[in-house]
Amino acid sequence: MDAEVYSQLKHSIKKTLKIDLGHYKDEQMKRRLDSWLVRSRATNWQDYFRLLTTDSLELERFRNYLTINVTEFFRDPLRWEILHQDILPYLIKTSAEARVATPLKLWSAGCSLGTEPYTLAILMAEAFPLQRYTLQATDLDRGALQKARAGGPYTKEEIRNLNPAQRQKYITPDAPYHVQEKLRKNITFAEQDLLADRFESGFDLIICRNVVIYFTSDAKDTLYEKFNAALRPGGILFVGGTEIISGPNKYGFTNFGISFYKKV
Ligand SMILES: C[S@@+](CC[C@H](N)C(=O)[O-])C[C@H]1O[C@@H](n2cnc3c(N)ncnc32)[C@H](O)[C@@H]1O
Repeated sequence: MDAEVYSQLKHSIKKTLKIDLGHYKDEQMKRRLDSWLVRSRATNWQDYFRLLTTDSLELERFRNYLTINVTEFFRDPLRWEILHQDILPYLIKTSAEARVATPLKLWSAGCSLGTEPYTLAILMAEAFPLQRYTLQATDLDRGALQKARAGGPYTKEEIRNLNPAQRQKYITPDAPYHVQEKLRKNITFAEQDLLADRFESGFDLIICRNVVIYFTSDAKDTLYEKFNAALRPGGILFVGGTEIISGPNKYGFTNFGISFYKKV
C-alpha cells in the first residue's frame, strides 16, 4: 500500500471509526489493512468505505479487526501466579499502611472481551476474599465492551486456563459460556481511548497487557507517562509478556520482576 493511500485511509478511519491510526506502527497496520481488503472482497477502499456507511455490522467487524481483541482467562498463567503470590500481597500491605481501610483501586486498561478483569475478580475472590476493591475495565472497542459487560459468550479456548473448580464456580455449565452474575457486579466497564482520554488517579494496580504492541514509540511514551501519573506512589503497572519497557526510570518506574513496574 503506498503512502498516499495509507494517509487517505487513516483519515477515513479516523472520521468513520474515531480510531487514530497515527499512533499505530505503519508497516504492521498497512499489512493488516491490505489483508482485510482482500478478505472483504471489495475491489478498492473507496467501495469498502461506501459499504461501511450502510452496513453497521460490517463497520463493527472492521473495528474489531483493527483493534485486535484476542484474549483469554489467565493469559500467561505464570504471570498471574506472580500477581497472586507477590504483587497483590505487596499492594494490600502498602496501601493499608498508606490509607487505612480504603478499597484497592484496580484497572484493566484495554480489557477487550472482559477475560482480564474477570480473571482479576476470580483471583481476588479466591485469594483475598476479605479485601475490598474497585475494579474498572476500559477499552475503545464498543463491540468488545458489550460482550465484556454481558459476561460472554466465551469459547472453550478462552476459558481453557480455568481449573475445573473455577469453571464450576464462575462459569455457566454449558456452551456458550458466560461468567456468573456474582463476578460481573464487581466490575465497572467503560469506553475509553487510552491515547486520547484523561485518566483517573490513585490506582494501586493498572493492568495493560497486549495492547501497546502496535503503538508507535511516541504513543507508548505518552501512555507510560500517563499510567505513571495515574498510579499512587508504589503502585504497580502489569504489562504483557512481550512488552518489556526499556529504561522504565524515564517514565518514573522501576522494575519489579518480569512484566511488573513500580511507580517510584
Ligand atoms: C489483544 S487485546 C488485549 C486484551 C487483554 N488485555 C489481554 O491481554 O488479553 C487488545 C485490546 O486493546 C484495545 N485497544 C487498542 N488500542 C486501544 C486504545 N487506544 N485505547 C483503548 N483500548 C485500545 C483493543 O480494542 C483490544 O480490545
